[in-house]
Amino acid sequence: TPTYRIAPSILSADFARLGEEVRSVIDAGADWIHFDVMDNHYVPNLTFGPMICEALRKHAVTSTGTRVPIDVHLMVQPVDSLAQAFCKAGADIVTFHPDASTHVDRTLQLIKAEGCQAGLVFNPATPLDVLEWVIDKVDVVLIMSVNPGFGGQSFIPSALKKIEQARRIIDASGRDIRLEVDGGIKAANIREVAAAGADTFVAGSAIFTQKDYQAAIGAMRAELAR
Ligand code: DX5
Ligand code: ZN
Repeated sequence: TPTYRIAPSILSADFARLGEEVRSVIDAGADWIHFDVMDNHYVPNLTFGPMICEALRKHAVTSTGTRVPIDVHLMVQPVDSLAQAFCKAGADIVTFHPDASTHVDRTLQLIKAEGCQAGLVFNPATPLDVLEWVIDKVDVVLIMSVNPGFGGQSFIPSALKKIEQARRIIDASGRDIRLEVDGGIKAANIREVAAAGADTFVAGSAIFTQKDYQAAIGAMRAELAR
């Protein structure tokens, strides 16, 4: 069985207390911090930029001081300048939508050259076909199970088929690539999503709407262990 990772999306956190929220969700067992960047152009919503990422970097640590990866999901167009800025702002992983980049291979190279892990994100109606041509430069494949832009939407079932397809491509490559899923993930469906081949799970509203983050993350892990 794979090493599962839970990546809480701070899109659903209390923006007035982001540093504390990052620490609480890490104390509650978060493996990665998922950081949703929206520009009101690629998606119809606006969140935060590299300065907020830099400010949060020092809070993304466990109680014993171990660094927790910041997983930056770029929903922006153009991609390149912000991708580089987020690497410099302390991101560990930077993912972007291939349809938002003019030169996908170049954008991946820019991210890797900054020392970050790089990933591609596929919307519900976007095929995986670019993956074949750049798989050697990809560390993360992120399958969207909602249309990007907002937290709290429902999981789109056709994502399961795409996760299965992505799993086959990753396994055939023989590379160590994370298969992440984003949108509508909760304890009630995480098992099914893992069975399709995902190993990394973004969850925003399912964690941050709960009083007890540890119980929320624990419920997901219990489902994965079942
Ligand atoms: C949507 C974002 C997601 C969002 C997920 O555009 O990419 O990361 O925060 O939120 P939930 O888990 O509530 O669907
Ligand atoms: Zn996201």
